Amino acid sequence: MNQMGNLRRTHMCGNLRKEDIGKEVVLMGWVAKERNLGSLIFMDLRDTTGICQIVIRDTLGDEKFSLAKDIRGEFVLAIKGKVSERESKNPKIKTGDIEVEVEEFIILDTAQTPPIYVKDDDNVSESLRLKYRFLDLRKESLQNNLKLRAKICKVIRDFYYENNFIEVETPYLNKPTPEGARDYLVPSRVNPGNFYALPQSPQLMKQLLMISGMDRYYQIVKCFRDEDLRANRQPEFTQVDVEMSFVDVDDVISINEKMLKKLFKEIKSIDLKLPLDRMPYDEAMSRFGSDKPDLRFGFEIKDITDCVKDVEFDLFKNKISNGGSVRAISIGKYSKEYTRKKIDKLIDYIKDYGAKNLFWIKFTKDGVTSSISKFLKEENISAIKKKMNLEQEDLCLIIADKNNIVLDSLGALRCAIAKDLNLLNPNEFKLCWIVDFPMFEYDEEEKRYVSKHHPFTHPKDEDIKYLKTHPEKVYAKAYDIVINGDELGGGSIRINNSKLQNEVFDALGLTKEDIENKFGFLIEALKYGTPPHGGLAFGLDRLTMLLCGTNNIKDVIAFPKTQSATDLLTEAPCIVTQEQLKELNLKLEK
Ligand code: AMO
Repeated sequence: MNQMGNLRRTHMCGNLRKEDIGKEVVLMGWVAKERNLGSLIFMDLRDTTGICQIVIRDTLGDEKFSLAKDIRGEFVLAIKGKVSERESKNPKIKTGDIEVEVEEFIILDTAQTPPIYVKDDDNVSESLRLKYRFLDLRKESLQNNLKLRAKICKVIRDFYYENNFIEVETPYLNKPTPEGARDYLVPSRVNPGNFYALPQSPQLMKQLLMISGMDRYYQIVKCFRDEDLRANRQPEFTQVDVEMSFVDVDDVISINEKMLKKLFKEIKSIDLKLPLDRMPYDEAMSRFGSDKPDLRFGFEIKDITDCVKDVEFDLFKNKISNGGSVRAISIGKYSKEYTRKKIDKLIDYIKDYGAKNLFWIKFTKDGVTSSISKFLKEENISAIKKKMNLEQEDLCLIIADKNNIVLDSLGALRCAIAKDLNLLNPNEFKLCWIVDFPMFEYDEEEKRYVSKHHPFTHPKDEDIKYLKTHPEKVYAKAYDIVINGDELGGGSIRINNSKLQNEVFDALGLTKEDIENKFGFLIEALKYGTPPHGGLAFGLDRLTMLLCGTNNIKDVIAFPKTQSATDLLTEAPCIVTQEQLKELNLKLEK
């Protein structure tokens, strides 16, 4: 006999229905709720499939019934009984027509009063939820998210497997790969003073697999980045990582959007229309002020510099003469929602992006009102009206500054207003590939060009000639997949010869020594016959968030970290013993 006695589970709690009435069943699970009515006790028994009402009556005998009276929330029970029709049905739950008349029960384990309620509408603090994550995970919503995540992984694996991709595991103890964040380092005991880096992505390993002739690779893989954490970022996260040989941009995009189509069909029953739209980076920036535009709503940015270039207003004039611009968005019929006071508050949304002023023009039936009316002449207003296709009752919001500040700020503003107006329908999915990224961007701090994607990205063939002289003119064979304003994944065609790779390293200002130290092995491998190749990586956590309809990345990860990269459950990271440090040849500075 084991602790379950002679009871063996016959059914799951959430699966019993009217059709099961009369059946003898054995259920096992946690007590979600108990209600003692004197001569009988109602309980909700919960397992991963849902809850089922059970009834324990005093007819079980004094000894058993007094044991039952001590049962509390989160006790673990095995019960045997008959399914019967409920007197008062509960249409809110799937098992609401039935209950189980308990004939026998065993308390498999007792439980202390849980520090958080196991129910979805509990508004306890996130830190307490994370500390008691094992209780938090008992909630239906989190269980559903993890189940959906598993299904997503299965669809993804099946798709790539059926299309001749081979799943290969790559090492976690690596040389650093430069993906732009800080590395998590791991000291080597047997090589004192030496460190491994946990992979920010398996980028170089998958390229080596192509050089090895693997042809098509994929992997669902953990990546580690020590970076500032935001709502949709975790220090360890999962990528769906893909690489293919003998391909160009269209081949990579085409097969991977087929995967997305299959995923949306199987998970959401949504038919994506292929090919997905593609938008060049420059267009995305100028129309939406972002390389991950949310296309569920309009409010497109228009350049109105020409309409106001002769206006005697210093805040316009100075910016324009310094190479900046004046741009605007119109929020059309929603202008009614924005009083003068509310417009003034919009400035809060853009301060973080560098803009200091927000100007506005409102077209009402009584004429035009504006925060800059004394500077604008009739012809300026009609030029703006024409350029922006404005109609009566429109509100036009204007920013003048350096181009990048104007675009970033208006890009953020259009999203903030859409959110404020409740225009962001979580059940609408607008997917788009952003293509033709610039190869480099200038880093003001480091005073040099840095890669926009990563240094292994292939420049567009027609731009290779500018590598040495005009790096800013070089565009890359790089692409991102964007959904509803989120970057879901990105990738590129890679450089497949060492000469071009060295030229790109040169353009990035890397010295021969840097190159040898960091990527010597790649340069060496590129000398022995490298197929043209390319790939991408999707963020699995972000993909799952989207398909689960949550905007908190922690909701789709079993054991997530906090914003300060700690695990409140296990209390990692933690101090280690002097012996451990000594073994690793490490000494801590006080
Ligand atoms: P990239 O750095 O764009 O590309 O990463 C790919 C995708 O991974 C997700 N992602 C994250 N998700 C959660 N938390 C994070 N901290 C985090 N960082 C990134 C995003 C992102 O789009 N090696 C290249 C891919 C390639 O070129 O093949 C790479 O890693 O959804």
